[in-house]
Amino acid sequence: MRTTASWQADGPASTADGPASTLRRTPLKRRDLRPDDLAVRVDYCGVCHTDLHAVQARDDGQPLVPGHEFTGVVTETGPEVTGFAVGDAVAVGNIVDSCGTCAMCRADQENFCHAFPTLTYGGVDRHDGSTTQGGYSREYVVRADFAYPLPPGLDPAAAAPLLCAGITVWEPLRALDVGPGARVAVAGLGGLGHLAVKIAVALGAETSVISRSRDKADDAHRLGAHEVIVSTDPDQMAAARDRFDVVIDTIAAPHDLGPYLRVVAMDGTLSHLGHLGPVTLETTDLLIGRKRLSSAGSGGRPATAAMLAFCAEHGITADIEVLPSARVNEALDRLRRNDVRYRFVLDLSDLD
Ligand SMILES: NC(=O)c1ccc[n+]([C@@H]2O[C@H](COP(=O)([O-])OP(=O)(O)OC[C@H]3O[C@@H](n4cnc5c(N)ncnc54)[C@H](OP(=O)(O)O)[C@@H]3O)[C@@H](O)[C@H]2O)c1
Ligand SMILES: [Zn+2]
Ligand SMILES: [Zn+2]
Repeated sequence: MRTTASWQADGPASTADGPASTLRRTPLKRRDLRPDDLAVRVDYCGVCHTDLHAVQARDDGQPLVPGHEFTGVVTETGPEVTGFAVGDAVAVGNIVDSCGTCAMCRADQENFCHAFPTLTYGGVDRHDGSTTQGGYSREYVVRADFAYPLPPGLDPAAAAPLLCAGITVWEPLRALDVGPGARVAVAGLGGLGHLAVKIAVALGAETSVISRSRDKADDAHRLGAHEVIVSTDPDQMAAARDRFDVVIDTIAAPHDLGPYLRVVAMDGTLSHLGHLGPVTLETTDLLIGRKRLSSAGSGGRPATAAMLAFCAEHGITADIEVLPSARVNEALDRLRRNDVRYRFVLDLSDLD
């Protein structure tokens, strides 16, 4: 085993004062490299809303190191690794292994592996059964097949969020054939949402933003959206009825899908990517206009590589606020209050 430094939630998940969502600097053991592993010095890790959900939902007192979108540099390679060398810039996302043999894996959809993909944190390692711990740490050991060369020209800090937020919106946009002429709306302008706007615009779609207020309207236009619809204004939502071929819903809290389905065009799709879990649905909202409800999560390896290449070609990265990792609790706090434009990225160099 090797030791690195990390930001970890441990101890009781809640106290008399409520949820204890504070991360503390804690040494972390990483496995020694297997033949097909890389050791990565983590330089930048994005702060995804899923990290916040995970810290808040922690109910078992087990240690948790969040972080599943990071970039860094290869510091060591296992003897079977080809294609990566010490010093290479790499990126790692929210999946770090899969069975490799099921129909999904064979179809390049490791993210849907029938044996469940190994998540970057809170997952179960397929070899030793240990719980994986994430990228809010200075080093990560990862199977080389699940690391991606970081294309030159992409800023390593601003590219980190592509590995979760970016790929999560890329796969449904591609699967739903978004291209020139498509009318797309992105609901929720946060980490996922602002990348969905940039990518949809770059794919040639006429792109709108659905947000709770006009506060982010200037940003939405700067990102390439041609219109902002205020979700809390029933008149604006009514005027948008049946307008969008694809609605990408990235809202981070439970919400009624009805208003978002009603703005989907006939035979169009609402792709619900945000807060997961049970939803109730009025089926007439699907019936009227033969609408589809879909979801997606992460991406397969070829799709992830394609997304990175597309972003490099189009100069797409996240709009970020970089914080030294010692300010991780402030980042989580501000994310909870929707006070981020549009992704916090932790600079892990202060863990040396
Ligand atoms: N499917 C997957 O694989 C996957 C991957 C990554 C993340 N996620 C999930 O996707 C969601 C978004 O993640 P993120 O990192 O983009 O979060 P984020 O940066 O916090 O953005 C979420 C946006 O949702 C809107 N919102 C937040 N609270 C709301 C509420 N109570 N009612 C209505 N709108 C609200 C806000 O947009 P406005 O201010 O514009 O209204 C906010 O900017 C999270 O639930 C996350 O766990 C899923
Ligand atoms: Zn994420
Ligand atoms: Zn599989």
